Amino acid sequence: MKRAVCPGSFDPITYGHLDVIERASGLFDEVIVAVLVNRTKASLFNVAERIEMITEVTAKYKNVKVDSWSGLLVDFCSEHKVSAIVKGLRAVSDFDYELQMAQMNLQLKEVDTLFMATTPAYSFLSSSLVKEIATYGGDVSALIPPKVLTLVKARLLENGEHGRN
Ligand code: PNS
Repeated sequence: MKRAVCPGSFDPITYGHLDVIERASGLFDEVIVAVLVNRTKASLFNVAERIEMITEVTAKYKNVKVDSWSGLLVDFCSEHKVSAIVKGLRAVSDFDYELQMAQMNLQLKEVDTLFMATTPAYSFLSSSLVKEIATYGGDVSALIPPKVLTLVKARLLENGEHGRN
């Protein structure tokens, strides 16, 4: 079985992530969407919440599973018999860091990374921008699935942030 991992923070998952996950699911027998635990940066959603929303919005892809991990991605790959890491590349600005990680992961455990050019419509899209725009009342409905939008708005309200649109 050819298994790939789509790793990330997914705080929250966007249509840009879903684009890569959907296309990877057509190329591999199984795709694991893996949410990184233990990030030092503050998050809008905890890992269990992120797993729940990713599971819901990827439910139509029958060969997509959702999991979390902490530590090195290459260790997750060997534990789960993952043959490739699939990453979306939005623009040249992503490339330097992604290439560095890809080469390091290859060096560490001979895990290959495949870069997928994101659909141009999502080349500007990131979870951080979604959070920033939503915080200040901007419309992010074209950037995240409706279920995720509802959760983002509710969390921003809970946090005393704007979250109006
Ligand atoms: O969604 P993000 O925050 O851009 O995802 C980045 C992520 C989680 C994919 C990247 O930071 C990562 O792979 N971290 C795992 C830790 C690790 O293996 N570090 C060594 C990389 S060479």
